Amino acid sequence: MTLKQAARDVWSRAYAPYSNFKVGAAIRGAGGGVHTGVNVENVAYPEGTCAEAGAIAAMIAAGETKIAEVYVVAASPTPVPPCGGCRQKLREFGGPEVRVTMATMDGAEEVMTLADLLPGAFDAGHMEGS
Ligand code: THU
Repeated sequence: MTLKQAARDVWSRAYAPYSNFKVGAAIRGAGGGVHTGVNVENVAYPEGTCAEAGAIAAMIAAGETKIAEVYVVAASPTPVPPCGGCRQKLREFGGPEVRVTMATMDGAEEVMTLADLLPGAFDAGHMEGS
């Protein structure tokens, strides 16, 4: 299954009763596995989690630790970029070259790298010698 199809399939199972904005994410791990996630909202609004965070959790639970590629989809008029927190979360496991495809359920796509999405990222290199 393609990353696109995996993200579109999981999108339908997002739990977003408060925003009514469902998001699906699929990550291909460096080992070839496909890991998916959806946003899961909560009546205590800040406790909700993003689709990307869910996909990262699934990847880690499956034993993969490196992101090769990301696909995010929502039923929005234009492709939805990951929120700031998710950019940092993705960067924890993906290098600056990792491609992130942002898509709409209508089929529009925009591709950026993690370097585009999070320039000047804080990473482990900044802590060397500390
Ligand atoms: N959301 C995601 O899951 N991923 C994104 O990239 C953008 C926003 C979710 C969070 C919340 O459940 C809903 O979309 C509206 O912000």
